[in-house]
Amino acid sequence: MGFDAIEVITVKRDRGELSAAQIDWVIDAYTRGEVADEQMSALLMAILLNGMNRREIADWTQAMIRSGERMDWSALDRPTADKHSTGGVGDKITLPLAPLVAACGAYVPQLSGRGLGHTGGTLDKLESIPGWRASLSNDEMLAVIRSAGAVVCAAGAGLAPADKKLYALRDVTGTVESIPLIASSIMSKKIAEGTGSLVLDVKAGSGAFMKNVDDARELARTMVELGTDAGVRTVALLTAMDRPLGLKVGNALEVEESVEVLAGGGPADVVELTVRLAREMLEAAAVPGARDPEQALKDGSAMDAWRRMIGAQGGDPDAPLPKAAESAVVTAPASGTLVTLDALKVGVAAWRLGAGRARKEDPVSAGAGVVLHAKPGDEVRAGAPLMTLYADEAGRFDRALQALEGAYEIGDQDGADLLPLVIDRLTA
Ligand code: URA
Repeated sequence: MGFDAIEVITVKRDRGELSAAQIDWVIDAYTRGEVADEQMSALLMAILLNGMNRREIADWTQAMIRSGERMDWSALDRPTADKHSTGGVGDKITLPLAPLVAACGAYVPQLSGRGLGHTGGTLDKLESIPGWRASLSNDEMLAVIRSAGAVVCAAGAGLAPADKKLYALRDVTGTVESIPLIASSIMSKKIAEGTGSLVLDVKAGSGAFMKNVDDARELARTMVELGTDAGVRTVALLTAMDRPLGLKVGNALEVEESVEVLAGGGPADVVELTVRLAREMLEAAAVPGARDPEQALKDGSAMDAWRRMIGAQGGDPDAPLPKAAESAVVTAPASGTLVTLDALKVGVAAWRLGAGRARKEDPVSAGAGVVLHAKPGDEVRAGAPLMTLYADEAGRFDRALQALEGAYEIGDQDGADLLPLVIDRLTA
Protein backbone atom coordinates (compact mmCIF):
# COMPACT_ATOMS: atom_id res chain seq x y z
CA MET A 1 0.00 0.00 0.00
CA GLY A 2 1.29 3.47 -0.83
CA PHE A 3 1.22 6.28 1.72
CA ASP A 4 2.16 9.87 1.72
CA ALA A 5 5.26 10.94 3.69
CA ILE A 6 3.47 13.93 5.21
CA GLU A 7 0.68 11.67 6.49
CA VAL A 8 3.21 9.38 8.21
CA ILE A 9 5.14 12.33 9.71
CA THR A 10 2.00 13.97 11.13
CA VAL A 11 0.88 10.73 12.85
CA LYS A 12 4.11 10.70 14.88
CA ARG A 13 4.20 14.50 15.27
CA ASP A 14 0.75 14.25 16.92
CA ARG A 15 1.93 11.40 19.21
CA GLY A 16 0.04 8.73 17.29
CA GLU A 17 1.03 5.12 16.64
CA LEU A 18 2.45 4.18 13.23
CA SER A 19 0.91 1.09 11.63
CA ALA A 20 3.09 -1.78 10.38
CA ALA A 21 2.10 -0.86 6.80
CA GLN A 22 3.12 2.79 7.29
CA ILE A 23 6.49 1.76 8.75
CA ASP A 24 7.17 -0.76 5.95
CA TRP A 25 6.29 1.82 3.35
CA VAL A 26 8.34 4.70 4.75
CA ILE A 27 11.51 2.60 5.27
CA ASP A 28 11.26 1.06 1.80
CA ALA A 29 10.41 4.35 0.08
CA TYR A 30 13.25 6.15 1.88
CA THR A 31 15.77 3.43 0.94
CA ARG A 32 14.66 3.73 -2.71
CA GLY A 33 14.97 7.54 -2.61
CA GLU A 34 11.24 8.20 -2.94
CA VAL A 35 10.95 9.81 0.51
CA ALA A 36 13.32 12.80 0.71
CA ASP A 37 15.99 13.34 3.40
CA GLU A 38 14.14 16.37 4.79
CA GLN A 39 10.95 14.32 5.21
CA MET A 40 12.77 11.44 6.91
CA SER A 41 14.58 13.97 9.14
CA ALA A 42 11.22 15.32 10.31
CA LEU A 43 9.95 11.81 11.03
CA LEU A 44 13.15 10.90 12.93
CA MET A 45 12.84 14.04 15.06
CA ALA A 46 9.18 13.23 15.78
CA ILE A 47 10.27 9.71 16.86
CA LEU A 48 13.08 11.13 19.03
CA LEU A 49 10.60 13.47 20.76
CA ASN A 50 7.54 11.21 20.98
CA GLY A 51 9.02 7.69 21.05
CA MET A 52 7.71 4.40 19.63
CA ASN A 53 6.03 1.50 21.44
CA ARG A 54 7.34 -2.09 21.47
CA ARG A 55 5.28 -3.11 18.41
CA GLU A 56 6.38 -0.07 16.40
CA ILE A 57 10.07 -0.63 17.27
CA ALA A 58 9.80 -4.32 16.24
CA ASP A 59 8.13 -3.36 12.92
CA TRP A 60 10.73 -0.62 12.29
CA THR A 61 13.55 -3.15 12.94
CA GLN A 62 11.98 -5.81 10.67
CA ALA A 63 11.50 -3.24 7.88
CA MET A 64 15.22 -2.35 8.08
CA ILE A 65 16.18 -6.04 7.99
CA ARG A 66 14.00 -6.56 4.88
CA SER A 67 15.81 -3.67 3.13
CA GLY A 68 18.79 -6.00 2.56
CA GLU A 69 20.13 -9.55 2.71
CA ARG A 70 19.84 -11.91 5.65
CA MET A 71 22.81 -14.16 6.32
CA ASP A 72 22.37 -17.84 7.01
CA TRP A 73 24.74 -20.05 9.02
CA SER A 74 22.57 -23.18 8.98
CA ALA A 75 25.24 -25.06 7.01
CA LEU A 76 27.47 -24.99 10.12
CA ASP A 77 27.46 -27.98 12.46
CA ARG A 78 27.73 -26.02 15.74
CA PRO A 79 25.58 -23.26 17.33
CA THR A 80 26.48 -19.66 16.53
CA ALA A 81 26.97 -16.99 19.19
CA ASP A 82 27.62 -13.29 18.86
CA LYS A 83 28.27 -10.32 21.13
CA HIS A 84 27.62 -6.65 20.58
CA SER A 85 28.96 -3.84 22.72
CA THR A 86 27.48 -0.37 22.63
CA GLY A 87 31.07 0.87 22.76
CA GLY A 88 33.43 2.50 25.15
CA VAL A 89 37.00 3.55 25.88
CA GLY A 90 39.52 0.70 25.90
CA ASP A 91 36.77 -1.78 25.00
CA LYS A 92 38.80 -4.37 23.12
CA ILE A 93 36.81 -7.32 24.46
CA THR A 94 35.76 -8.67 21.03
CA LEU A 95 39.42 -9.41 20.21
CA PRO A 96 40.08 -12.00 22.93
CA LEU A 97 36.39 -13.01 23.24
CA ALA A 98 35.68 -14.24 19.69
CA PRO A 99 38.57 -16.77 19.58
CA LEU A 100 37.95 -17.73 23.23
CA VAL A 101 34.30 -18.65 22.58
CA ALA A 102 35.35 -20.49 19.40
CA ALA A 103 37.89 -22.49 21.47
CA CYS A 104 35.08 -23.41 23.88
CA GLY A 105 32.84 -24.89 21.17
CA ALA A 106 30.62 -22.25 19.46
CA TYR A 107 31.01 -20.61 16.08
CA VAL A 108 31.35 -16.82 16.29
CA PRO A 109 30.37 -14.84 13.17
CA GLN A 110 30.95 -11.23 14.17
CA LEU A 111 30.36 -8.28 11.89
CA SER A 112 32.01 -5.22 13.38
CA GLY A 113 32.43 -1.54 12.69
CA ARG A 114 34.97 1.23 12.68
CA GLY A 115 35.32 3.88 15.33
CA LEU A 116 33.86 7.33 15.08
CA GLY A 117 34.56 10.00 17.69
CA HIS A 118 36.08 8.98 21.00
CA THR A 119 35.15 5.26 20.91
CA GLY A 120 37.43 2.92 19.00
CA GLY A 121 36.28 0.46 16.36
CA THR A 122 37.14 -3.24 16.38
CA LEU A 123 38.13 -3.21 12.69
CA ASP A 124 40.53 -0.27 13.20
CA LYS A 125 42.20 -2.20 16.02
CA LEU A 126 42.59 -5.42 14.02
CA GLU A 127 43.87 -3.49 11.00
CA SER A 128 46.96 -2.57 12.99
CA ILE A 129 48.06 -6.22 12.53
CA PRO A 130 50.20 -6.32 9.37
CA GLY A 131 48.34 -7.93 6.45
CA TRP A 132 44.95 -8.39 8.22
CA ARG A 133 41.92 -7.81 5.96
CA ALA A 134 38.52 -6.58 7.21
CA SER A 135 36.53 -7.06 3.97
CA LEU A 136 35.53 -10.63 3.17
CA SER A 137 32.97 -12.12 0.77
CA ASN A 138 30.28 -14.34 2.29
CA ASP A 139 32.17 -17.44 1.04
CA GLU A 140 35.40 -16.22 2.62
CA MET A 141 33.58 -15.60 5.92
CA LEU A 142 32.31 -19.17 5.89
CA ALA A 143 35.80 -20.50 5.11
CA VAL A 144 37.38 -18.50 8.00
CA ILE A 145 34.70 -19.62 10.44
CA ARG A 146 35.17 -23.26 9.42
CA SER A 147 38.95 -23.11 9.87
CA ALA A 148 39.21 -20.85 12.94
CA GLY A 149 35.78 -21.08 14.61
CA ALA A 150 35.45 -17.27 14.61
CA VAL A 151 35.48 -14.47 12.07
CA VAL A 152 35.51 -10.73 12.78
CA CYS A 153 35.00 -8.66 9.64
CA ALA A 154 33.22 -5.67 8.09
CA ALA A 155 29.50 -5.88 7.28
CA GLY A 156 28.95 -5.88 3.51
CA ALA A 157 26.88 -3.18 1.80
CA GLY A 158 23.95 -5.60 1.47
CA LEU A 159 23.22 -5.84 5.20
CA ALA A 160 20.41 -3.51 6.37
CA PRO A 161 21.10 -0.76 3.79
CA ALA A 162 18.16 1.25 5.21
CA ASP A 163 20.09 1.55 8.49
CA LYS A 164 23.23 2.80 6.72
CA LYS A 165 21.23 5.60 5.10
CA LEU A 166 19.26 6.40 8.24
CA TYR A 167 22.34 6.38 10.50
CA ALA A 168 24.12 8.89 8.25
CA LEU A 169 21.03 11.12 8.34
CA ARG A 170 20.66 10.82 12.14
CA ASP A 171 24.32 11.78 12.52
CA VAL A 172 23.70 15.19 10.92
CA THR A 173 20.19 15.93 12.24
CA GLY A 174 20.66 15.54 16.01
CA THR A 175 18.59 12.35 16.09
CA VAL A 176 21.14 9.75 17.18
CA GLU A 177 20.20 9.78 20.88
CA SER A 178 16.82 8.07 20.67
CA ILE A 179 16.53 4.69 22.40
CA PRO A 180 14.03 3.25 19.82
CA LEU A 181 16.29 4.38 16.95
CA ILE A 182 19.55 3.14 18.54
CA ALA A 183 18.00 -0.21 19.52
CA SER A 184 16.47 -0.83 16.07
CA SER A 185 19.68 0.24 14.32
CA ILE A 186 21.88 -2.16 16.30
CA MET A 187 19.41 -5.04 16.32
CA SER A 188 18.50 -4.85 12.60
CA LYS A 189 22.17 -5.53 11.77
CA LYS A 190 22.57 -8.26 14.41
CA ILE A 191 19.37 -10.08 13.38
CA ALA A 192 20.22 -9.78 9.65
CA GLU A 193 23.64 -11.25 10.46
CA GLY A 194 21.79 -14.47 11.26
CA THR A 195 23.28 -15.43 14.63
CA GLY A 196 21.27 -17.89 16.73
CA SER A 197 22.09 -16.15 20.02
CA LEU A 198 23.33 -12.75 21.07
CA VAL A 199 24.89 -11.28 24.20
CA LEU A 200 24.70 -7.50 24.48
CA ASP A 201 27.24 -5.52 26.49
CA VAL A 202 25.44 -2.25 27.19
CA LYS A 203 27.80 0.27 28.71
CA ALA A 204 26.88 3.03 31.17
CA GLY A 205 29.01 6.00 32.21
CA SER A 206 30.85 9.03 30.84
CA GLY A 207 32.67 7.07 28.10
CA ALA A 208 29.47 5.36 26.82
CA PHE A 209 26.54 6.37 24.62
CA MET A 210 24.30 6.11 27.68
CA LYS A 211 25.72 8.28 30.46
CA ASN A 212 23.48 6.94 33.22
CA VAL A 213 22.48 3.45 34.31
CA ASP A 214 18.71 4.00 33.90
CA ASP A 215 19.05 4.95 30.21
CA ALA A 216 21.44 2.04 29.64
CA ARG A 217 18.92 -0.33 31.27
CA GLU A 218 16.11 0.99 29.04
CA LEU A 219 18.27 0.54 25.91
CA ALA A 220 19.23 -2.99 27.04
CA ARG A 221 15.59 -3.94 27.75
CA THR A 222 14.48 -2.65 24.34
CA MET A 223 17.20 -4.62 22.53
CA VAL A 224 16.53 -7.83 24.49
CA GLU A 225 12.83 -7.56 23.54
CA LEU A 226 13.69 -7.00 19.86
CA GLY A 227 16.04 -9.98 19.75
CA THR A 228 13.62 -12.24 21.58
CA ASP A 229 10.69 -11.20 19.33
CA ALA A 230 12.86 -12.06 16.30
CA GLY A 231 13.67 -15.55 17.64
CA VAL A 232 17.27 -14.78 18.68
CA ARG A 233 18.14 -15.88 22.24
CA THR A 234 19.26 -12.52 23.66
CA VAL A 235 20.83 -11.58 27.01
CA ALA A 236 22.21 -8.17 28.05
CA LEU A 237 24.82 -7.24 30.64
CA LEU A 238 24.96 -3.64 31.85
CA THR A 239 28.64 -2.83 32.43
CA ALA A 240 30.72 0.07 33.73
CA MET A 241 32.15 2.73 31.42
CA ASP A 242 32.78 5.46 34.01
CA ARG A 243 36.52 4.61 33.72
CA PRO A 244 38.42 3.05 30.78
CA LEU A 245 38.44 -0.72 30.43
CA GLY A 246 41.92 -2.18 30.90
CA LEU A 247 45.15 -0.19 30.79
CA LYS A 248 45.61 0.42 27.06
CA VAL A 249 43.55 2.68 24.79
CA GLY A 250 44.41 2.89 21.07
CA ASN A 251 44.46 0.52 18.12
CA ALA A 252 47.72 -1.48 18.25
CA LEU A 253 47.91 -0.91 22.02
CA GLU A 254 44.56 -2.68 22.44
CA VAL A 255 45.67 -5.58 20.22
CA GLU A 256 48.74 -5.88 22.47
CA GLU A 257 46.55 -6.02 25.61
CA SER A 258 44.19 -8.55 24.00
CA VAL A 259 47.13 -10.84 23.22
CA GLU A 260 48.24 -10.53 26.87
CA VAL A 261 44.77 -11.79 27.89
CA LEU A 262 44.93 -14.65 25.38
CA ALA A 263 48.35 -15.56 26.81
CA GLY A 264 46.77 -15.97 30.26
CA GLY A 265 47.68 -12.50 31.66
CA GLY A 266 46.24 -9.01 31.12
CA PRO A 267 44.42 -6.57 33.42
CA ALA A 268 41.89 -8.07 35.86
CA ASP A 269 38.85 -6.11 34.55
CA VAL A 270 39.45 -7.14 30.91
CA VAL A 271 39.92 -10.80 31.92
CA GLU A 272 36.83 -10.77 34.17
CA LEU A 273 34.56 -9.25 31.53
CA THR A 274 35.91 -11.47 28.74
CA VAL A 275 35.32 -14.64 30.78
CA ARG A 276 31.87 -13.50 31.94
CA LEU A 277 30.75 -12.64 28.40
CA ALA A 278 32.16 -15.94 27.10
CA ARG A 279 30.12 -17.87 29.69
CA GLU A 280 26.97 -15.90 28.77
CA MET A 281 27.53 -16.59 25.04
CA LEU A 282 28.07 -20.33 25.54
CA GLU A 283 24.95 -20.52 27.71
CA ALA A 284 22.79 -18.48 25.30
CA ALA A 285 23.97 -20.62 22.38
CA ALA A 286 23.37 -23.83 24.40
CA VAL A 287 26.66 -25.29 23.17
CA PRO A 288 26.69 -29.02 23.99
CA GLY A 289 29.78 -29.96 26.04
CA ALA A 290 31.11 -26.38 26.06
CA ARG A 291 34.63 -26.03 27.49
CA ASP A 292 35.40 -23.71 30.41
CA PRO A 293 36.63 -20.28 29.19
CA GLU A 294 39.09 -19.83 32.06
CA GLN A 295 40.67 -23.18 31.18
CA ALA A 296 40.83 -22.24 27.46
CA LEU A 297 42.77 -19.07 28.36
CA LYS A 298 45.17 -21.05 30.58
CA ASP A 299 45.87 -23.97 28.24
CA GLY A 300 46.57 -21.85 25.13
CA SER A 301 43.62 -23.10 23.06
CA ALA A 302 42.09 -19.58 22.89
CA MET A 303 45.46 -18.25 21.68
CA ASP A 304 45.59 -21.01 19.03
CA ALA A 305 42.11 -19.96 17.79
CA TRP A 306 43.26 -16.28 17.67
CA ARG A 307 46.32 -17.20 15.59
CA ARG A 308 44.17 -19.22 13.17
CA MET A 309 41.59 -16.42 12.93
CA ILE A 310 44.17 -13.69 12.25
CA GLY A 311 46.11 -15.88 9.79
CA ALA A 312 42.95 -16.87 7.88
CA GLN A 313 42.30 -13.15 7.22
CA GLY A 314 45.82 -12.51 5.87
CA GLY A 315 47.32 -11.23 9.13
CA ASP A 316 50.63 -12.25 10.64
CA PRO A 317 50.08 -12.89 14.36
CA ASP A 318 53.86 -12.88 14.93
CA ALA A 319 54.61 -9.57 13.16
CA PRO A 320 55.66 -6.69 15.43
CA LEU A 321 52.81 -4.19 15.91
CA PRO A 322 53.28 -0.58 14.77
CA LYS A 323 54.61 1.80 17.44
CA ALA A 324 54.15 5.55 17.67
CA ALA A 325 57.30 7.63 17.22
CA GLU A 326 56.67 10.05 20.10
CA SER A 327 55.67 9.68 23.73
CA ALA A 328 54.94 11.95 26.69
CA VAL A 329 54.51 10.97 30.33
CA VAL A 330 51.85 12.47 32.62
CA THR A 331 52.93 12.29 36.27
CA ALA A 332 50.81 12.29 39.42
CA PRO A 333 50.63 15.80 40.95
CA ALA A 334 50.16 14.42 44.48
CA SER A 335 50.36 11.21 46.50
CA GLY A 336 47.18 9.38 47.48
CA THR A 337 44.44 7.20 46.01
CA LEU A 338 43.43 7.64 42.38
CA VAL A 339 39.75 8.28 43.03
CA THR A 340 38.43 8.92 39.50
CA LEU A 341 39.72 8.52 35.95
CA ASP A 342 37.14 9.78 33.50
CA ALA A 343 36.59 7.41 30.56
CA LEU A 344 35.35 10.12 28.18
CA LYS A 345 38.33 12.42 28.78
CA VAL A 346 40.83 9.57 28.26
CA GLY A 347 38.91 8.56 25.09
CA VAL A 348 39.02 12.11 23.72
CA ALA A 349 42.77 12.32 24.50
CA ALA A 350 43.42 9.05 22.59
CA TRP A 351 41.30 10.35 19.71
CA ARG A 352 43.28 13.63 19.57
CA LEU A 353 46.53 11.65 19.66
CA GLY A 354 45.42 10.07 16.36
CA ALA A 355 43.78 6.80 17.48
CA GLY A 356 40.31 7.88 16.28
CA ARG A 357 38.77 9.75 13.38
CA ALA A 358 36.53 12.83 13.11
CA ARG A 359 35.04 11.89 9.72
CA LYS A 360 34.28 8.44 8.30
CA GLU A 361 36.94 8.78 5.59
CA ASP A 362 39.81 9.87 7.91
CA PRO A 363 42.74 7.46 8.46
CA VAL A 364 43.64 6.38 12.01
CA SER A 365 47.10 5.99 13.53
CA ALA A 366 47.83 2.39 14.54
CA GLY A 367 50.35 3.28 17.27
CA ALA A 368 48.67 6.30 18.90
CA GLY A 369 46.89 6.12 22.24
CA VAL A 370 47.19 6.13 26.01
CA VAL A 371 48.73 3.61 28.41
CA LEU A 372 47.49 3.94 31.98
CA HIS A 373 49.87 3.18 34.84
CA ALA A 374 47.16 3.35 37.52
CA LYS A 375 43.41 2.72 37.71
CA PRO A 376 40.87 4.13 40.17
CA GLY A 377 41.39 2.61 43.59
CA ASP A 378 45.20 2.35 43.12
CA GLU A 379 47.67 4.22 45.31
CA VAL A 380 49.85 6.72 43.41
CA ARG A 381 52.99 8.65 44.44
CA ALA A 382 53.62 12.34 43.58
CA GLY A 383 55.87 12.51 40.50
CA ALA A 384 55.31 8.86 39.50
CA PRO A 385 53.96 8.17 35.96
CA LEU A 386 50.15 8.18 35.79
CA MET A 387 49.86 7.60 32.07
CA THR A 388 51.97 7.65 28.90
CA LEU A 389 50.64 9.27 25.73
CA TYR A 390 51.72 8.00 22.29
CA ALA A 391 51.43 9.84 18.94
CA ASP A 392 53.08 9.85 15.52
CA GLU A 393 53.74 13.61 15.82
CA ALA A 394 54.71 15.45 19.03
CA GLY A 395 52.45 18.35 17.93
CA ARG A 396 49.43 16.33 19.06
CA PHE A 397 50.34 16.26 22.76
CA ASP A 398 49.07 19.76 23.69
CA ARG A 399 45.46 19.13 22.64
CA ALA A 400 45.48 15.66 24.21
CA LEU A 401 46.74 17.14 27.50
CA GLN A 402 43.93 19.73 27.34
CA ALA A 403 41.41 16.89 27.02
CA LEU A 404 42.88 15.33 30.17
CA GLU A 405 42.33 18.46 32.31
CA GLY A 406 40.16 17.40 35.24
CA ALA A 407 40.23 13.77 34.04
CA TYR A 408 41.49 12.39 37.32
CA GLU A 409 41.28 13.11 40.99
CA ILE A 410 43.75 12.01 43.64
CA GLY A 411 42.34 11.95 47.16
CA ASP A 412 42.61 10.17 50.44
CA GLN A 413 39.50 8.03 50.16
CA ASP A 414 39.85 4.39 50.83
CA GLY A 415 38.92 3.23 47.33
CA ALA A 416 36.95 5.04 44.67
CA ASP A 417 33.20 5.42 44.19
CA LEU A 418 32.89 3.38 41.00
CA LEU A 419 30.14 1.51 39.21
CA PRO A 420 30.49 -2.28 39.63
CA LEU A 421 32.11 -3.80 36.52
CA VAL A 422 28.92 -5.80 35.84
CA ILE A 423 25.99 -3.70 37.02
CA ASP A 424 23.07 -5.89 35.99
CA ARG A 425 21.92 -8.73 33.71
CA LEU A 426 18.72 -8.64 31.66
CA THR A 427 16.88 -11.46 29.90
CA ALA A 428 13.48 -11.71 28.21
N1 URA B 1 25.39 1.90 16.88
C1 URA B 1 24.56 1.62 15.85
O1 URA B 1 24.81 0.70 15.07
N2 URA B 1 23.46 2.38 15.70
C2 URA B 1 23.14 3.38 16.54
O2 URA B 1 22.12 4.01 16.35
C3 URA B 1 24.01 3.67 17.58
C4 URA B 1 25.14 2.89 17.74
